[in-house]
Amino acid sequence: MMLRVAPYRIRTFGDPVLRRRAEEVTDIDERVARLVDEMHAVMREANGVGLAAPQIGVSKRIFVYEIGNSGPRTVINPVLEEAEGEWEHEEGCLSVPGLWFHITRAKRVRVRGYDIDGREVSYEGEDMEAKLYQHEVDHLDGHLLLERLDAEQRKQAMRELRRRAEGHSAREVAPAGREPRA
Ligand code: NI
Repeated sequence: MMLRVAPYRIRTFGDPVLRRRAEEVTDIDERVARLVDEMHAVMREANGVGLAAPQIGVSKRIFVYEIGNSGPRTVINPVLEEAEGEWEHEEGCLSVPGLWFHITRAKRVRVRGYDIDGREVSYEGEDMEAKLYQHEVDHLDGHLLLERLDAEQRKQAMRELRRRAEGHSAREVAPAGREPRA
């Protein structure tokens, strides 16, 4: 029997998988390894710096990233710890294409979890890296960056998303900069 693997595509705003709390991974097995390879490939292809499994339709607590000179990394069952300070910066999401927002998050965080070999990992990040960890764990908890906006920003974003859903061409909502998305 020939098995055809369905190509993964990035799920976007409105897809229910993005609103669900993803499930803990209980066995880091061959299936998880294949999924993680696929996630790295999809992230690279989309020029993203991070990607959470629900973003390709798999409700598992896994994210991958590559930021600065980190090389490709995988964190399974991540837990955020030791959040400190505040940092406001532009943020974009592969699941909310074409929109960037200024969002305030903790400036420094530590994330703990497991790598693809089942070894415990712990990464400490600041600024962009800290933001990435928080963004990815939000995805695993079923939250998009839209939920981090203040009321006015959010209203504007929802209006723009509705326009696009109705087939209107994109209108710039976000400020000028273009940070990589996750
Ligand atoms: Ni995202």
